[in-house]
Amino acid sequence: MKFILASDHGGYELKQKIKEFLELNNYEYEDLGCNSENSSYAEYGKKLANKISTSKNSLGIGVCGTGLGISFAVNRVKGIRGARITSIEDAKLAKIHNNANILLFGGRQQSTSEVIEMIDTFLKNEFEGGRHNSRIEELDK
Ligand code: RB5
Repeated sequence: MKFILASDHGGYELKQKIKEFLELNNYEYEDLGCNSENSSYAEYGKKLANKISTSKNSLGIGVCGTGLGISFAVNRVKGIRGARITSIEDAKLAKIHNNANILLFGGRQQSTSEVIEMIDTFLKNEFEGGRHNSRIEELDK
């Protein structure tokens, strides 16, 4: 499984910390940016969503200041289930019930350690399928 990352400037620092965690744990990743001080969550969110919607076996991680703007951007793309994660329970259910394919965080609101714990929780859980499959399919109809 490969991670695809993107952020605006408000999420840049947290994105760098997430990359350190991925490197330490030998996860494969690709960073789509940003690398500048003035960037748009709309631009990077759409880039991330377009990449995830055409990549197999990948999980997106998007960060802006709050996680809100970038979540609006990714969820406009067909096939994307972007979950703004603010608790361990969110992380668990975003996998078990929603099978999210992008996780969104707020770089100005969340600490690196809590975000890493949320990513870990998401990865440790399994999509339950069953009744949740038809709901997910309905999103893209
Ligand atoms: C950028 O300053 C900030 O507005 C953005 O990162 C995000 O928090 C918007 O939702």
